[in-house]
Amino acid sequence: MKYWIVASLLATVLLAIMCQGNKSSVTRDLHEIRQEVLRINHVFDRQIDQQLTLVKDEQDTKQLQAGFDHLRSTYKSMEWAVAYFMPETARFLNGPNLDEIELEENMVLEAEGLQTLEEYFYPAYQAENKAETLRFLKKLKNKSLAINTYFEVNTLSLPQLMESLRNQIFRITTLGITGFDTPLSGRGLPESADALKGVGNILKMLRPQVKHQQDIDHTLHLIETAEAALNQNRDRNKFDYLTMIDQHLNSISDALFEFRKHENIPSLNIHHPISPEASNLFSKNAFEPDFFTPGEKQKMSNEKVHLGAKLFRDNILSGDGTRSCISCHHPEKGFSDGMTTPLTLAGKKMDRNSPSLSYSNYQHGQFWDMRREDLEAQSMDVITNKDEMHGSMDEITTRLNQDETYREVFQQIYKTKSIETWQLQNVLASYIRSLATFDSRFDQYMQGKSQALTTDEKAGFNLFIGKAKCATCHFIPLFNGTVPPEYAKTESEVLGTATDHRNLQLDQDRGRGRYHPTIPQLQYAFKTPTLRNIDKTAPYMHNGGYMTLEQVMDFYNKGGGQQFGFTLSNQTLPADSLGLTEQETAKIIAFLKTLNDPTIH
Ligand code: HEC
Ligand code: HEC
Repeated sequence: MKYWIVASLLATVLLAIMCQGNKSSVTRDLHEIRQEVLRINHVFDRQIDQQLTLVKDEQDTKQLQAGFDHLRSTYKSMEWAVAYFMPETARFLNGPNLDEIELEENMVLEAEGLQTLEEYFYPAYQAENKAETLRFLKKLKNKSLAINTYFEVNTLSLPQLMESLRNQIFRITTLGITGFDTPLSGRGLPESADALKGVGNILKMLRPQVKHQQDIDHTLHLIETAEAALNQNRDRNKFDYLTMIDQHLNSISDALFEFRKHENIPSLNIHHPISPEASNLFSKNAFEPDFFTPGEKQKMSNEKVHLGAKLFRDNILSGDGTRSCISCHHPEKGFSDGMTTPLTLAGKKMDRNSPSLSYSNYQHGQFWDMRREDLEAQSMDVITNKDEMHGSMDEITTRLNQDETYREVFQQIYKTKSIETWQLQNVLASYIRSLATFDSRFDQYMQGKSQALTTDEKAGFNLFIGKAKCATCHFIPLFNGTVPPEYAKTESEVLGTATDHRNLQLDQDRGRGRYHPTIPQLQYAFKTPTLRNIDKTAPYMHNGGYMTLEQVMDFYNKGGGQQFGFTLSNQTLPADSLGLTEQETAKIIAFLKTLNDPTIH
C-alpha cells in the first residue's frame, strides 16, 4: 500500500474518533425533534385531505375558512423547521401569491401554496373556482411529501436547531405579526401565537437534554406571556405592535441567546446577515455589512471607508473634473440631493430621482430598477454614465495612479503595485456600506431607551404596521424590500406611481420592465426603498414627483395607481383605500421622522 493511502486512512480513523468524543451535544442528531416535525407534517397532510373533501362536498364559506385556518395553524407550528431547512419548499408553500420570476433562467413560476389558496377561501368561497381550489390543494400535498422526505433523511443538530428557532422569532417579528402572509384572512396575530407555540413545543422536548433548564423555563414563560398578549387583542388595526416586539419578542430572542451562551452551543459558522453576537434583531450592530459584499477581498475595513469618503468628494472621478459623487448625494440630505431629478452634465433633467445612499448596502439590487447586483457594480455605472459623470474607469484609474498620495494609500490597503479598477469600486462601496449607522431614535428606543419616542410616534409605528400595512413591503428593521429573516432577496413592487402628486397620469417609466420587456409582472416595478432617513430625502419616489410625505401618504391612503384609474393589471399594492384619518396619517409621518440618523460629515 502506498504511504499516502495509509496516512489518509489513519487520518480518517482519527477524525472519526475525535468526532465521537465531541458528539456530546453539538453534532448529535436530535432524532426525536425530527420525529416531532414528521408528526406535525402528518397532521398537515391529513388536514389537506379533509379540506379536499370539504371543497368536493361544496361546504359553505364558514366551514371552508375554518378548515383552511386549521391547515395554516398546523403549518405555523412547524414553520420554524420548514422555512429554515427547506427555504425553497417554504417559498412555494407559503410565499406571496405572486408568480416567482427566475431571471437567470428566464422563467416565470406560477404562484402556489397557502397564500394562493387564501384567495380562494377569503373573503368568501366561490363555487366556480372549485377545480382550481382542488388543483392547488393537491399541489400542497406534494409539498407535505417533500417535508416528509427531508426530515426522514437528514439529521438535525443542536446548533442548527438554535439558529432555526431564533430565525423563527425574527420571522414572527417581521413577517408574522405584520400580516405579510395573511393579507386576506387578517389572522396574522393568532397565527403568530401558533408559531410561538410551535417554538415552545420544541423547547419543552429539548429541556431534559440540556444543563441549563432554568433558561428554557424562563424562555417558555416569556413565550406563554407573548401568546396570551397575541390572543387577547386580535384586532390588527388596534394592536400594540411596538410593545409586542420590544417587551415580548425581543425578550424571547434575548433569552434564546443567553441559553445558547450558557450551554456553550457554538453558532454555525455560516454566512448570515444577523451577527451571532446580536441578542436580538434590534441590537446594536445586529446587521453584518459584509454579508452583502460580493467576496472575501471586498470586505470592509476602516482604511477602505476612509479612502472611499475622500474619493466620494473628489472631482477626480468625473470626466471633465466638475463633479463628484457628493454633487448628487449630500450627507445632510441623507445622501440624496433635494431635486426632483438631478441635471445631466449638459444641463438637462435626468429621468430619476437621486436616492438616499444610507442603507443601500442592505439590498440585492442597486438603482430604482435593481439593474446592478451590488455596490461594486453600481459605481462603475455612475462613473461611466455620460449624463452623470462621463468618466472612463481606465482613465480614472490612470489618473489616480499618477497621484502619489492616492497610490500610496491604495497600496497600503491592497498590496498591489498600482491601483486597479476593482479597488476603486471597492473603496467607494465600502464608504457607502459605512453609512448605515442604525443610530436613529427608533433604534435607541428598541435598544432600551424608553424615552426616545413620544406617544404619537409610538402610535405611528403601530399604524405603520397595523392599519396602514406599510411593513408588508418596507420590512422592519431595515424598512426596505430585503426579505427577512434570510435577507436573501430584495423585492420590487408595482404601485402605479403617477407622474406627480396630483396623481393624474401613470408615470411611463417601466422600471424593471425596461430591462425585461417580455415579463408582464415587471412592468412599472420598482425596488422597495428604505424609509430610514426619509425625512431628509424629499422629494419622493423614483421620479421625485411627490414633494412631501403627506403627498406620499395620500397616494397610499387612496390605494395607489388603480384607484386613480390607471390601467395597471399587475399592481401589487392592494388597491383598497386604507381609511386613515388625518390624525393617523400625521402620526405615521411623525414615526417616519424618528428614522433619522444623526448626519454623517
Ligand atoms: C448627476 C447626479 C449623480 C452623481 C454625480 C452620482 N449619482 Fe448616484 N445616483 C444618481 C441617480 C439619479 C441615481 C438613481 C438612478 C437610477 O435608479 O436609475 C443614483 C443611484 C445611486 C446608487 C444606488 C442606490 C440605491 O439604493 O439604489 C448608488 C449606490 C450611487 N448612486 C452611488 C453614487 C456614487 C458612488 C457616485 C460617485 C461615483 C454617484 N452615485 C454619483 C445620481 C447621481
Ligand atoms: C406593495 C408594497 C408597498 C407598500 C404596502 C408600501 N410601500 Fe412604500 N414604496 C414601495 C415601493 C416599490 C416604492 C418605490 C416606488 C416608486 O419609486 O415608484 C415605495 C416608496 C415609498 C416612499 C418614497 C421613498 C423614497 O425614497 O422616495 C415612501 C416615503 C414610502 N414608500 C412610504 C410608505 C408608507 C408610509 C407605507 C404605508 C402607508 C408604504 N410605503 C407602503 C412599496 C410599498
